[in-house]
Amino acid sequence: MLNANVSRKRRASLAIAFCLTFVPILQAVANENEILAPGKGRELVQENCTVCHSAAIILQNHMTRAAWDKTITWMQQKQGLWELETSVRKTILDYLSQQQGVNQKPANETADAQKNPMYEFDYRPNPL
Ligand code: HEC
Repeated sequence: MLNANVSRKRRASLAIAFCLTFVPILQAVANENEILAPGKGRELVQENCTVCHSAAIILQNHMTRAAWDKTITWMQQKQGLWELETSVRKTILDYLSQQQGVNQKPANETADAQKNPMYEFDYRPNPL
């Protein structure tokens, strides 16, 4: 009886140890593989844009097409992204502006927002 209790306790603590050790690791791995929405160009984004950082950095950004365009140029000029063929760049831009665009707003609200100087995507200074 006593033995059975001990081994049940031991099994329980092993299970807890397992969770404490592996669940955070599995969560970290899952976060690394943030899933990009399906759509034309997703593979190209995965191939070209998730090499240096995970897709999470893309998923957490919602920008206009023009702002995504500037981001890609910035990636190329300052962050080491390679040259992209015109058609590849266009497909990536199409994907990003469709899947990671700014939320649709009523037309006049968008027009008002565009008059605001803060509307433009604001580059954070590169800390390096
Ligand atoms: C050669 C490496 C490299 C590649 C390839 C690359 N990036 Fe980046 N990216 C970086 C680095 C480094 C940063 C962090 C820059 C910083 O915060 O100063 C970054 C940051 C970003 C950010 C965050 C900008 C912000 O305001 O914090 C976005 C969005 C982004 N990248 C999108 C892309 C997209 C889209 C592509 C593909 C077209 C891409 N990246 C490909 C290196 C890369």
